[in-house]
Amino acid sequence: MKLSVIGAGYVGLTTAACLAQIGHDVFCSESDVEKLAKLQNGGMPLFEPHLEDVIKGVRKAGRLRFGSTEEAIAWGDAIFICVGTPPLANGDADLCAIEVVARAIAKRATGYRLIIEKSTVPVQTGAQLRKHLSVHSTNGLRYDVASNPEFLREGTSVEDFLHPDRIVIGADSPRAAGLLREIYEPIVQQKFTCPIHSGCPKRKDPIFLATDTNSAELIKHASNSFLAMKISFINMVANLCEVVGADVTKVAEGMGLDPRIGPAFLNPGIGFGGFCFPKDVQAFVRIAEKSGCDFSLLKEVEKINQRRVEHFVEKIRKELWVVRGKKIAVWGLAFKPNTDDVRFAPSITLVKALLAEGAAVRAYDPEATEKARAVLPEVTYCTDAYRAAEGADAILIVTEWDEFRQMDWNRLLSTVEQPLVIDGRNVFSPEQISGKGFRYVSIGRVDASPWQAAVGEKIDSSSLRAGNSVQEVPA
Ligand code: UDX
Repeated sequence: MKLSVIGAGYVGLTTAACLAQIGHDVFCSESDVEKLAKLQNGGMPLFEPHLEDVIKGVRKAGRLRFGSTEEAIAWGDAIFICVGTPPLANGDADLCAIEVVARAIAKRATGYRLIIEKSTVPVQTGAQLRKHLSVHSTNGLRYDVASNPEFLREGTSVEDFLHPDRIVIGADSPRAAGLLREIYEPIVQQKFTCPIHSGCPKRKDPIFLATDTNSAELIKHASNSFLAMKISFINMVANLCEVVGADVTKVAEGMGLDPRIGPAFLNPGIGFGGFCFPKDVQAFVRIAEKSGCDFSLLKEVEKINQRRVEHFVEKIRKELWVVRGKKIAVWGLAFKPNTDDVRFAPSITLVKALLAEGAAVRAYDPEATEKARAVLPEVTYCTDAYRAAEGADAILIVTEWDEFRQMDWNRLLSTVEQPLVIDGRNVFSPEQISGKGFRYVSIGRVDASPWQAAVGEKIDSSSLRAGNSVQEVPA
């Protein structure tokens, strides 16, 4: 089918590339001329595993082209709107870009078009779109408006698009529902050439959930807000564990074994970030407010999340006593691994707090350095984690990149000023790092120090939990 995708951000670019990968003829437009030129010249405006290769492949096959919004409107039988809906100061989603696209479609499109909102939008946006098109269309445009929220995660967006758990559509006409089913049939059947896995492991076919537009729009905000709530919940449990001497990793494991809870999104840390959770929770609170519902639960989810960084800074103060003048190594700046995105990343708030307390920050991130440099120019950016740790009074783990699991701790021991690791993502077990000669402080678990490990007394948190104190062994 001839499909158009308007907007080439994470969602738009992944959508355009993957729809072409499963066989459709796709036109993707981008209003940012620099970004468009980069894409037309084979460049990538963002880092996302597999995406560059998929784009190269489908462009070579002649199934993907980049151009202007006007060209995109003229091209596709169905038009996916994937423009940004950033948060406004009051937390509402900014729908200006959606309106601009709607106006252009109303003015330019002729014949029949299926207009699909894929951007994250508040409930009833589809209804607004329909009204807008009927008021402003001048060329006898016949259309349907449908909702098709996306659930892809940065860092795994291509895999999430091609191998989703579910495809949700909201359509108020059989024609629109039928067209969306046709568009996604190859994914529903899992019949396409997978660019990620040569022998694509057999997996459960995705569920194709067709509902009305309002419900589909709500599914998006409700899903993201629920996941954010799960994270804030386990972060509160982590705080409790720190006070009572329990192990949040075990608690999360015990909870997650209940299929009604599930193990996913129970990793405590320094808070959720990124361009989705923070703004979607805010927008959902506002949507509820405007409908007369006080979503106090989500307001608490936000507050808990906003306190995570301060809680982490308190750990740093406790370990370093005086932060001013200390050299602090920050490992990880991206809001999560496998992305170069630092939008609403806890790392940014954390580093700003450390700089404000007079610390010197040396940071390293495998992908996000340039994007971080744009918002944190005062930081010393290093080309690897070892350089960042040179002369450090503390090493902070802020993003759980895999490469931090392969570090040479003996080498680090010889380069740091003080063997201290404060882990904001529980990448290691306390014993692992204290056994390497470093004091290890983490989230929701008992701190561990090398001298405990050195006396060969196998400290397992269970004995600590039983209130046993570390016996001072005479030197
Ligand atoms: C999210 C949703 O997962 C995705 O379905 C939606 O389409 C877009 O928003 P994304 O923002 O890419 O995706 O990241 P995600 O992997 O969900 O992580 C969000 C944040 O939560 C990150 O900062 C991550 O570090 C944090 N997180 C995640 C936790 O702190 N603990 C967890 O257990 C999981």
